Amino acid sequence: MMFARIVGTGSYLPGNPVSNNDLAARGIDTNDEWIVTRTGIRTRHLAEAGVTSSELGLVAAQRALEMAGLQAADIDLIIVATSTPDFIFPSTACLIQGKLGNKGAAAFDVQAVCSGFAYALGIAEKFIRSGSHRRALVIGAEVFSRILDWSDRGTCVLFGDGAGAVVLEASEKPGILATAMHADGSQFGILNVPGQVSGGQVIGDPFLRMDGQAVFKFAVRVLAEIAEEVCSIAGVATSEVDWLIPHQANIRIIEATGKKLAIERERVIVSVDRHGNTSAASVPLALDEAVRDGRIQRGQKVLLEGIGGGFAWGAALLEF
Ligand code: UT7
Repeated sequence: MMFARIVGTGSYLPGNPVSNNDLAARGIDTNDEWIVTRTGIRTRHLAEAGVTSSELGLVAAQRALEMAGLQAADIDLIIVATSTPDFIFPSTACLIQGKLGNKGAAAFDVQAVCSGFAYALGIAEKFIRSGSHRRALVIGAEVFSRILDWSDRGTCVLFGDGAGAVVLEASEKPGILATAMHADGSQFGILNVPGQVSGGQVIGDPFLRMDGQAVFKFAVRVLAEIAEEVCSIAGVATSEVDWLIPHQANIRIIEATGKKLAIERERVIVSVDRHGNTSAASVPLALDEAVRDGRIQRGQKVLLEGIGGGFAWGAALLEF
């Protein structure tokens, strides 16, 4: 059987970490104790003005290619998960393709907000298993700082900018064992950016709006459900999962999900404390960190999952 296997990971965080105290010093009515207690976030990275998702994604992609020992020309599929694309069009995937110097690969964006990486990984896996494509770059890249209302302390302290990437390759060796994706558009109202570009103007509100408590409850329920779903598809017990990498949005959601799945804290990868919620970049950022520091080893089972606006959620169980 043909698998899609991760052969390289990479990530990139722009600039210096910005602490909770730095935000308070910039005039936001908040404090370190509130943010750490409610979210676990200590620092985030904010891209300089003019730095775009494609620039962050490019570096993450280059690092993943380097780990894989591959060149840009070896790639025949590029999928970028982002809700903060450089332009309305062309896609951020095409921009990264151009910057990498790849010509001819299929390239497109996936818009599934914080579940974007799980969606993009599932799509790329299906392309590879079908035999139509052999090597894919799957990238999550975001500059959420651009869509934050810095006068809304309930949201602006939660998010950050960054990018993560993996290279997937067709392989006889096990790789991605199961994926799942779901959405419930009736939940549109609890997390969205309602503005539209029309007639040369932004019509409506161009900033991220969120009902935090509604998101919290929804997230914990479906993150546990979808983790069980991919384990069941693959015939793997949750007790056999070596590493859980939930969407890095909030330590309390991460801990509640781990608890529901009876996956103890030592088997859960957490990086939200250092980069906040980077939406589609959060899961590949956490994955890359744990691969590079040696926690995730070849042959281990890793369960990734994302959730966000839509509402949309997705997961993948893989043998690394
Ligand atoms: O990809 C999905 C992304 N979204 C999430 O993961 C968010 C999920 N939700 C959450 O994590 C939590 O709901 C939050 C962390 C966003 C908020 O925590 P909460 O316990 O639900 O707080 P709250 O919104 O009910 O606010 C409690 C208090 C309020 O003050 P009063 O009305 O009780 O006086 C807020 O004004 O905390 C206040 N508050 C803050 N205080 C200091 C809200 N934001 C801040 C802040 N600093 N940054």
